[in-house]
Amino acid sequence: MAQKFHVTTFGCQMNVHDSERMRGMLASLGYEEAAERGEADLILFNTCSIRESADSRFIAHLGEAKRLKSEDPERVVGVGGCWAQSVKEEVFERFPFVDVAFGPGQIHKLAEFLNSDSLSAQGYFEFEEFSGHLPTRREREFQGWLQISQGCNCVCSYCIVPSTRGREVSRDPEELLLEAQNLAADGVREVTLLGQNVNSYGRDLPLEKRISFSELLRRVDAIEGIDRIRYTSPHPKDMKEDVIRAHAELPALCEQIHLPLQSGSSAVLKRMRRTYNRSRYMDRVALIREHVPDCAITTDIIVGFPGESERDFEETLEVAEEVGYDGAFTFIFSPRRETEAATMEGQLPHPLKVERLERLVEVVQRRASERAQRFIGRTMEVLVEGTSRTDETKLRGRTRHGKAVNFDGVASAGDLVDVEIESATSQTLSGVLARPLTPLL
Ligand code: 5AD
Ligand code: SF4
Repeated sequence: MAQKFHVTTFGCQMNVHDSERMRGMLASLGYEEAAERGEADLILFNTCSIRESADSRFIAHLGEAKRLKSEDPERVVGVGGCWAQSVKEEVFERFPFVDVAFGPGQIHKLAEFLNSDSLSAQGYFEFEEFSGHLPTRREREFQGWLQISQGCNCVCSYCIVPSTRGREVSRDPEELLLEAQNLAADGVREVTLLGQNVNSYGRDLPLEKRISFSELLRRVDAIEGIDRIRYTSPHPKDMKEDVIRAHAELPALCEQIHLPLQSGSSAVLKRMRRTYNRSRYMDRVALIREHVPDCAITTDIIVGFPGESERDFEETLEVAEEVGYDGAFTFIFSPRRETEAATMEGQLPHPLKVERLERLVEVVQRRASERAQRFIGRTMEVLVEGTSRTDETKLRGRTRHGKAVNFDGVASAGDLVDVEIESATSQTLSGVLARPLTPLL
């Protein structure tokens, strides 16, 4: 009987993509996916370390793996991703039942371990070139990821990622375009370009290969069969006019830009080492509104950064109010090991951070809900993802703006359809199918 594996994913889309590659690689090694952790011979975790809450959530899951391993010591427990990288060999001291640990993207090392006769615990934490060329098992056949770079050269003082994912390495554009063509040939209609800082793509490539991020977008857009392109995440400091214009010019590039603000206070931004200030950020927003007036803008914001005064925080509220984000991920600052901000003076008490988060969420949701009203009465293109999570009689999909839509009608997952929008909340739109865009064969 085939060996079975089970993988649990934490963290960002990069990890979701890495897990898809893990699945593909394990399938090629003859493994089958188990529906539950308890049925698996190989129990894997793809971990995140971005905030303390991510660490603790994962450690709770590890407890179950320990129990399963003690029931059947033949089982193999593997821990990959950013948390593993951030604690390295300490994993084996703290959790002796773990057999193999590896850094983010190092999935090929897992294959090496499984193919070796090694009986002792193994850790793989070297940063290397991109470990691509692995088969991928996509969660949805019509959506795919394209990892354009790995690592990050920024030095944001709160962020653990540069230490878990290493220096930025861009992938060869020809290789990427071939991969995008293969995805399209394989039925992918929506592709999301992934990188820690996508718009610095290419800067590390040799001159003869170097292309800019906007040129890469242009070339992916030209591929037959790719109807939608998204990317995440750009850094406001590198968000240039060529990329913004591309949103207006390229038919497949969606009207959505995720532009992480982090703080509205220039003083805080400086201590975060973001290298832009409030007014430069607002210039980017103005440029987006000028070229792509209807563009959805989403963001990430951290509250309670060390030394954040009431006035600093009010500046964040002002920016949230002024921009009117279509959506925002809001976080409480969490000191991370070996980051500069973890030991800065002026760490704020938890209750104050929570209070600020609540005040921010109120503004973000109110503005997102106001913004969403503009969609009511419009007919919007929706990529169908399946049935609604909350109501089985309805379908669910996403607009080009990235908004989730629940709607009445008949369509299949992967179809592009027209939906008339009837109502809107800060998070979701509701509507009814207008007419299928793709002819039914
Ligand atoms: N504490 C809180 N939020 C953080 N983020 C990154 N590091 C931290 C931290 N130490 C947030 C940022 C980033 C998002 C992915 O996570 O807003 O954009
Ligand atoms: Fe988590 Fe950041 Fe690593 Fe993604 S890159 S898994 S968000 S720590």
